Amino acid sequence: MNRKSRSSVEMNDPNSRPAIGGPAVDLAEYDTILLGFPIWWYVEPRIVDTFLESYDFTGKTMIPFATSGGSGIEKAEHSLQTHCPKAVWKKGKLLNHTDAAKWAKTL
Ligand SMILES: Cc1cc2nc3c(=O)[nH]c(=O)nc-3n(C[C@H](O)[C@H](O)[C@H](O)COP(=O)(O)O)c2cc1C
Repeated sequence: MNRKSRSSVEMNDPNSRPAIGGPAVDLAEYDTILLGFPIWWYVEPRIVDTFLESYDFTGKTMIPFATSGGSGIEKAEHSLQTHCPKAVWKKGKLLNHTDAAKWAKTL
């Protein structure tokens, strides 16, 4: 709720693209990508948009999953597809109070 907090500053600016640390990912190793994040103001945090815009996801199967304080994942799913239209998006899953590893094994 602090308007000067990092999350407030990032989420108030749709063009914010926080940098991702660490080495780049070699996408050639992956056909299917499980993309997990906390819901921030009904959508994915901007750093997830940084990720989506940093690589060519053409033809990759993407499965989003999220945690939240109660909001659904639908608005985030729409936003993800807008930021990364070339991926093949599968239905996402809200994993509040759920065993994520167990869910992943059902895919
Ligand atoms: C900046 C910010 C915005 C959030 N916006 C929402 C929201 O719109 N809807 C919701 O249900 N929860 C919201 N939350 C709660 C987070 O989704 C929840 O804390 C998170 O999924 C749990 O993971 P954590 O333990 O890493 O915070 C928000 C949290 C933060 C920090």
